[in-house]
Amino acid sequence: MTVSEPEPFRIDDSGMPVSLGSALKVPSYAYQNWGIPEGAYRLESEDLYGVEWKGGSQKQMEYVKEAITSTGLGNFSQMLRDASANVVSHLVRTTKERINYLEPGAGVSTVNVVDRLIRDGVDMDRVFITMIEPSAERLQNAVEQLEKKGLRRGKHYADYSGKKDTDALALVGPRTQEIVAQVAEIHHHSYLDVPVMILAATLRQGGYFVSADWHNSMWEHPNRVYRYLEKEFDWKTKDRDLAAFCAMHPKAREPAPELSGPEEVGNAMIRKFWGKEGWAKVRSEAMASGQFQPCDDILMLEGHRPVGRYMEAAERVGLYPNLAGAQLVHDGVMPANPHALVDGSSILDLLVAKKCLL
Ligand SMILES: C[S@@+](CC[C@H](N)C(=O)[O-])C[C@H]1O[C@@H](n2cnc3c(N)ncnc32)[C@H](O)[C@@H]1O
Repeated sequence: MTVSEPEPFRIDDSGMPVSLGSALKVPSYAYQNWGIPEGAYRLESEDLYGVEWKGGSQKQMEYVKEAITSTGLGNFSQMLRDASANVVSHLVRTTKERINYLEPGAGVSTVNVVDRLIRDGVDMDRVFITMIEPSAERLQNAVEQLEKKGLRRGKHYADYSGKKDTDALALVGPRTQEIVAQVAEIHHHSYLDVPVMILAATLRQGGYFVSADWHNSMWEHPNRVYRYLEKEFDWKTKDRDLAAFCAMHPKAREPAPELSGPEEVGNAMIRKFWGKEGWAKVRSEAMASGQFQPCDDILMLEGHRPVGRYMEAAERVGLYPNLAGAQLVHDGVMPANPHALVDGSSILDLLVAKKCLL
């Protein structure tokens, strides 16, 4: 598949208030709901994520921040970065050893970690940071920030732009890292198994995997998406687009399992993020002012999934949340593991797992 060919499982969303993208990007375990054979399209879904993020702009992140703050929900992106940095700083400070720290999807979150380490009095000469990020523009931005703080390429950090988490093992080698942290990065996969396995393989025995991410189950079922689009937005080609959506994903017209509690609160929050007070508003205003570029756009159908799915994927490759959590919770670093960062909602979770292979 090349980029110029029509994307499989994508309707013409060019007139819609939010770009949906292809349903190949939803979590792979939900493929059947979308009329996609489970286990199929692994490479194609990866390619589609690649297209979205490789050419991604710095503005893209700024619009995301604007969208989430304009909903009044809070700066979720920053909450994730701070939660991750808190754990990372604790882990670095509890050892005197040299630390190799790997971050896929590096960027503002990496600068945030460095700020936190410096503030906590860590000698930056004993930390080596490896940054992997598909977007050259965003990684360059982070590199400039690190240089301003006195960090030097080769001595304190390595930066790999145009690369992905799945390149990590080839870039750093097996069992070389003490900490691998991802902030809002790893949900950019339909199939989580391989990326998690590769990141786990870069960790030394006893090393830590820190994950701070968005979690929701909105994209598990086309009926949730259909009902949301129907209710939230009005646009010129609405009837045509919704009919095309239902024709492509027949289960869109069948009721999805009802949800309640923190999961449904989380889903309501992600709907708000994309909605007419959030992303759709920021995007349409930027378009009206002639500023919005295709590389600033983001696509709604994503690989977000409940945090329990991350725990399963981690445990399958020897990363154990219970081993990490017992100590960190005992030390008061996090109240629980996983830890929901928003009361009463499962939208943002911090999860830490420890590598232990027998
Ligand atoms: C929501 S942003 C978060 C960026 C940064 N971690 C932060 O919190 O400031 C997600 C980032 O993940 C990157 N990304 C997407 N897919 C990736 C992959 N497979 N491997 C590494 N990075 C990826 C994107 O380019 C994007 O910069």
